[in-house]
Amino acid sequence: METIAVLTSGGDAPGMNAAIRASVRAALASGLQVYGAKNGFSGLVSGDFQRLHARSVTNILQRGGTMLGTSRSIEFESKEGRKTAAENLKSHSVEGLILIGGQGTAEAALIFHKEYEIPTVVIPASIDNDIPGTDFSVGFDTAVNGAMEAIDRIRDTAESSGRIFFVEVMGRSRGYIALYAGLSGGADAIFIPEEKEDLEALCKRVIAGHKAGKSSFVVVVAEGEEAGGAFSVAERVTKQLGERVEFDYRVTVLGHLQRGGTPSSNDRVLGTILGAAAVEGLGTGALPHLVGEINNNIVFTPLDELESMERELPKDLLHLLHTVGTT
Ligand code: F6P
Repeated sequence: METIAVLTSGGDAPGMNAAIRASVRAALASGLQVYGAKNGFSGLVSGDFQRLHARSVTNILQRGGTMLGTSRSIEFESKEGRKTAAENLKSHSVEGLILIGGQGTAEAALIFHKEYEIPTVVIPASIDNDIPGTDFSVGFDTAVNGAMEAIDRIRDTAESSGRIFFVEVMGRSRGYIALYAGLSGGADAIFIPEEKEDLEALCKRVIAGHKAGKSSFVVVVAEGEEAGGAFSVAERVTKQLGERVEFDYRVTVLGHLQRGGTPSSNDRVLGTILGAAAVEGLGTGALPHLVGEINNNIVFTPLDELESMERELPKDLLHLLHTVGTT
């Protein structure tokens, strides 16, 4: 193998730049040439390739987002688009791919590999942390810290004004951000896609807390929550509280604020470790794989095994939230 290409795909995540930088520099150190494809799989289809040198990735480690740009490529979903992508890779003599992204990226990588058999390693990067095969994906730590800080701020105003705040965090299919931000931000309750909602239990806690002199509540809701997000949960909870107790409420949707910002040290280190490991993985030939970190060990998981792997929230943390997060 002499030439590889690197791209970032799907939702951007803080620390993607660390993964790009590490994979580029590790590849160059192994004597490989490196291309960066711009804007995810779209760049493969349009042939938007850029030669990357050591200096091309200077001064990006501390930046959020991705220097290569990203997209959720519609073109790459078609057979025709993937054929064009494979031709473009061939014309640039690319023999290996490092793809930095989430679930959708891993799924697209598997389809592409089945068709064209180009050695591929996927680096898990998504603030949602919903990818199996790794304890944490790149970007999650930064997003959680951002959400936690936001909850801290909201608590100040909630306390002062005596309200219930419903804070919506990201997480389409998994409640990782809600769980970690809720736990670290001292939320009174969290609503996540993995658990059946219990509005009545929350109402009872609010009433009991109110009687005991608690003046405010912070409830964290994952966007993918079954009840339809924070606005819906807020409406239903306040409706159920009805005349039993009077509480003014507000909803704050953190949205894409969670995706931006300076990557945390954890995300920079994880991106760096996985970026370098991905290059090593490409050299081993046993592909396509996702490279993750489990219990501090680098683990390569075949992409076709990911589908059947469950991405479960840590039960002990969920339990902890129920026991210490209530009043
Ligand atoms: O990056 C993951 C994620 O943040 C999800 O939680 C969210 O639903 C989605 O991306 C939104 O992304 P976009 O606005 O880019 O479609």
